[in-house]
Amino acid sequence: MRFAASPTSPADLFSFAAMKKFNFYSGPAILPAEVLQQAAQAVQELDNLGLSLIEISHRSKEFTAIVEESIDLVRELTGLKAPYQVLWLQGGATMQFLQVPYNLLNRTATAAFLETGSWSRKAIKEARLFGHVQVVASSADRNFTYVPKDYAVPDDAAYFHITTNETIHGVQVHEIPEASVPLIADMSSDIFSRQLDWSRFALIYAGAQKNIGPSGATLVIVNEELLGHVDHPIPTMMDYRNHIKDNSLHNTPSTFAIYVCLLTLRWIRQQGGLAEMEKRNHRKAAMLYAALEASELYRPVAEPDDRSLMNVCWVLTRPDREEALVRFAAENGCIGIKGHRSVGGFRASLYNAMPEEGVRHLIDVLRHFEQHHA
Ligand SMILES: Cc1ncc(COP(=O)(O)O)c(C=O)c1O
Repeated sequence: MRFAASPTSPADLFSFAAMKKFNFYSGPAILPAEVLQQAAQAVQELDNLGLSLIEISHRSKEFTAIVEESIDLVRELTGLKAPYQVLWLQGGATMQFLQVPYNLLNRTATAAFLETGSWSRKAIKEARLFGHVQVVASSADRNFTYVPKDYAVPDDAAYFHITTNETIHGVQVHEIPEASVPLIADMSSDIFSRQLDWSRFALIYAGAQKNIGPSGATLVIVNEELLGHVDHPIPTMMDYRNHIKDNSLHNTPSTFAIYVCLLTLRWIRQQGGLAEMEKRNHRKAAMLYAALEASELYRPVAEPDDRSLMNVCWVLTRPDREEALVRFAAENGCIGIKGHRSVGGFRASLYNAMPEEGVRHLIDVLRHFEQHHA
């Protein structure tokens, strides 16, 4: 392997530009190369239609077919049939922080939450605007480096909300908790990364821009038996029932984003489905955590049992070398490894589309930095 010292001379710049880049951003994030190629082609012309994907009506038969195939693929990957409904919405997972309580939480009722990091905290803040919130357990005491295990969810809660993967803190819920009330999950950063008993959930939501596609689409899977029981009015666009009735076409959706999600879902199926994604994700994360553990310079942040397979977070034993590492990594084709601004350190996001080759390359770069520049 050749390592660029610094892209300052023309020769270095040339090798820098020619070097393959691996994208470790947390989101929007890496997508499979074939998905990007197909998406680029569809922007030129969709399926020999003589029109671009992004200039056809969302009510055309071609786009309706795209929505229907994408919903069928989500059903195939999850095995979920009616009364579950699959929706493509807008507003990101952030909108779901309020759309969920709007549809499910009465003013006098209580929503239970597991607080595992910044994202669950944001969901809690919005739910408080609608009803009571009970945080059944929190890992705030140790900077969200673990997932609490010992807690009880009240039987009379309207629902129990978890964030299956905390993108910023790099912790993941590996054992889906039991609850006697409807289980709601923000799966924005680990959806379709592993096999799950999907029927354990009453509602799942995920911004697309990590494991499913580009930003601009939000996947919601909801058991429709849950809906229609709150005692307050719900604005039209907030009411899941309107989106169900109109098959995610209540208003103009993000047609490009939904199409790229369809391409990614096809790619997941063609690669071997969720079983294969899970296998690859375990392998990739295990390699990187082992390399971090073996070093003197790097220290993984999350506790071993709760480490995320999607977002691997670590700090340096020599924090004064942080900027140098970010620079060295970027010069050597590893892009986006700086940790979230709220926690610092480093984070490598290893979503489905990240090849093992990318993780091996990152490990080589980290080792080289430790040996020669730390
Ligand atoms: C776990 C999780 N929840 C929610 C969000 C917010 O998503 P959005 O920016 O799509 O609203 C993110 C974004 O990174 C996330 O990682």
